[in-house]
Amino acid sequence: NTAPGPKQNIVLIGFMGCGKTTIGRILARMLGCPFVDLDQLIEEKAGTTISSIFAERGEPYFRLVEAAILHELAAPGPQRVISTGGGIITRRRSRRLLKQLGYVVWLQAPVEIILDRTRRNRDRPLLETEDPKSRIQALLDHRQPHYREVADLEIDTSGLDPEETACGILESA
Ligand code: S3P
Repeated sequence: NTAPGPKQNIVLIGFMGCGKTTIGRILARMLGCPFVDLDQLIEEKAGTTISSIFAERGEPYFRLVEAAILHELAAPGPQRVISTGGGIITRRRSRRLLKQLGYVVWLQAPVEIILDRTRRNRDRPLLETEDPKSRIQALLDHRQPHYREVADLEIDTSGLDPEETACGILESA
């Protein structure tokens, strides 16, 4: 693996509950640069929550908005740490944009940890099902090749605290 360039954006990808937002904030603080959370940008732009976008307009519409915002972020600008939604890699256009955007880091965690974290944290429309564990596994099986395709670096976060993960990313030479 090659380390992120000195002024390159760092882009965090990975499944829901793998710590993208938490680790992204820490990385931005360490680098002294802005942190951008794509889901938050989408909510601000749409003036509503992710859940209601899914409920009222459906996932395909959400993916279009996601790709449009990614496109805006790909314009040249100061270094940033960018955390993305877990399903961003499902669209080919978004995968291409992610690669253009900077140094892409894939954060990973085992299904049990994902299940536990997503149960405790904010709502995730895709996991509102009788059997979230099977849903997580099915989504992971489908998404893993896409995460791998765009990632410059893969990190298993289990057993690491968020600071350790952030340091690992910065030292990933
Ligand atoms: C999604 C993940 C969510 C959010 C939306 C869809 C997904 O982001 O974008 O609920 O398809 O995995 P987080 O990964 O930040 O939870």
